[in-house]
Amino acid sequence: MTRPDLNQIVRTPDGRPEVEQPKWRRDFPIDLPQDEYVARRDFTKFMVLTSLAFAVGQVWIGIENWRRRRRGQPPIAEIAKVSDVPIGSTITFAYPQPHDACLLVRTGELTWLAYAQECTHLACAVIPEVDKGQFRCPCHHGYFDLTTGRPIAGPPRRPLPRITLDVRNGAVYATGVEERTA
Ligand code: FES
Repeated sequence: MTRPDLNQIVRTPDGRPEVEQPKWRRDFPIDLPQDEYVARRDFTKFMVLTSLAFAVGQVWIGIENWRRRRRGQPPIAEIAKVSDVPIGSTITFAYPQPHDACLLVRTGELTWLAYAQECTHLACAVIPEVDKGQFRCPCHHGYFDLTTGRPIAGPPRRPLPRITLDVRNGAVYATGVEERTA
């Protein structure tokens, strides 16, 4: 692409001389050829930066997958005593890492549910509303079904990751994290 001859530039969009243009256009002249001119160097810079960002993204995904594989299966961890969680109530716990906030909900004598607390939209903490059968995200009014963790309203599209549970000997144990896409 050759650079336009700056002496030949037509500054007005309709080709009429500047004195014939409306006042607003004279006050704010736009040099259209200059404005639309994209140098080969700019284009190459854009392509290189875009490719670089793509490559960095791929490397990051690869590293994350590798780290997840290295971590292996999450540990089995006791998260509550059965007697500490009355029916219809909720407690928070951390699993599998200390910074992974989760919610344990007891909806019946033998019915337990647990999910990661991080909203799948933009990671705000969801709030359990057991009486309404839902989790509510206060940030953008996202809602998840309490019994499935699936989104039912608002911006979230993916379900909350489910924490698998085992209840035995008077205690509730977390045994794994089930990432789901639908
Ligand atoms: S972060 Fe939860 S709806 Fe946006």
